Amino acid sequence: MSERQVAALLTGLRKLSRQVGLYPEGHPLTEEAVVVAFGSISEFLEPDQEAALTVHQDAFFRNRVVVPHASLEFRGFLRDMQQRGVESITLARPISQEDLYDLAAFIGGTSDDLPADGTIRLNEPMAIDPDLDVTPTTKLRASYGATLDAMRFVSGAMVTRGSFELSTVVNAVEGLFEQSVAQPGAALLLSTVKSHDEYTFFHSVNVGILSLALGRLVGVDKDILVPAGVGAVLHDIGKVAVSPAVLNYPGRLDSEQWREITIHPQEGALSILSAGGVGSEIAATVALEHHARYDGTGYPVVTRDGKPHIYSRLVQVVDTYDAITSRRSYRRAESPRRALQVLMGGAGTAWDPQLVHAFIGMMGIYPPGSVVLTATGETAVVVRPSEEAGAPLACLVVKGRDGELIDDPEPMRVELDQVAKQVMASDAGIDPAALLEAVGEAMVVEA
Ligand SMILES: [Fe+2]
Repeated sequence: MSERQVAALLTGLRKLSRQVGLYPEGHPLTEEAVVVAFGSISEFLEPDQEAALTVHQDAFFRNRVVVPHASLEFRGFLRDMQQRGVESITLARPISQEDLYDLAAFIGGTSDDLPADGTIRLNEPMAIDPDLDVTPTTKLRASYGATLDAMRFVSGAMVTRGSFELSTVVNAVEGLFEQSVAQPGAALLLSTVKSHDEYTFFHSVNVGILSLALGRLVGVDKDILVPAGVGAVLHDIGKVAVSPAVLNYPGRLDSEQWREITIHPQEGALSILSAGGVGSEIAATVALEHHARYDGTGYPVVTRDGKPHIYSRLVQVVDTYDAITSRRSYRRAESPRRALQVLMGGAGTAWDPQLVHAFIGMMGIYPPGSVVLTATGETAVVVRPSEEAGAPLACLVVKGRDGELIDDPEPMRVELDQVAKQVMASDAGIDPAALLEAVGEAMVVEA
């Protein structure tokens, strides 16, 4: 519940703070953004008269409740707030329009005026207990966030000066590696976090997490796996060399556009090699080979027998999985199970069959993040892979038989024959990755 409220508030506020930087107060588009922001504040406050949004240890809180998913999804905005020294925003009904406008302009950096009407108050004494957010998943979430930051940094550096330092990404991926060793199940669930606005960054981090997990499963050494994970995270970095018009072209590409797209693996590999440092060759190889198929098709043609390196092959499998399960502007997201079927269909041709099988074994037939309707009418989210084939699914019940969302999701084991059907998370209005905190607690209870 808090997740949705905070996401609503941040969406409205982010939009307005960008808008006031472009057009002044009174402009029709700004007025429209003000109306949207008012709506989002109402949603955030519901059912209270007053509530606070707080930034603490790189996470957002609504009053005393941490909201892990919004903390990742709106990390750019979180950084904007931190940069402007905003640690908390207390909102009290009825919000004055002047306060709202001042807040947006202040966070957006277009004005130094603070809200003065008293309906929006900044940096009131912290309403949260500093120990509240220490959960088993805090470090994991922090590693995810650090990798997102590294990606933002790298792509910013590529755009402004055409180069970057690899160490930022290596450090981030090492953290991700350690955390996913410590909490493998939670890491897989976290990898279902998506952002439509920032698809590329989230996709990159998810591909990193899943590549590390799959690589560990098939016995790739850490010395190779971490650089391969760096390559996984950076696999599409060469796309900065492709014009946005071609990248976002909705129809069929002509040959010139296609040629432009197909240079991104080489461009990416070159930029990683010129960044240099330990492991840069492996990372560059992954970027170079991520579209080179197992059967020798794809691009570019990379080696004499036509097969990409094993670490490139494992990145391909997880890249495909995460792309299929993500919503894009030109198609809806598919279920995790459907994505596994696609991989099965291409095992031995597009993808390495052993790695496809290992991946399916790792994720289970209902991978973490799958949403199922049980035979008894509950809606449950699979939160970690089953220990063995045929074992009951480790779930959290998120909606009761009445179809109402449950505030504190309950752990439940669902037998495979009790799965009535699979539901799309978006159709059910559920965000699996947002359950991470509840899973962390459930894991502690079970231990
Ligand atoms: Fe690519």
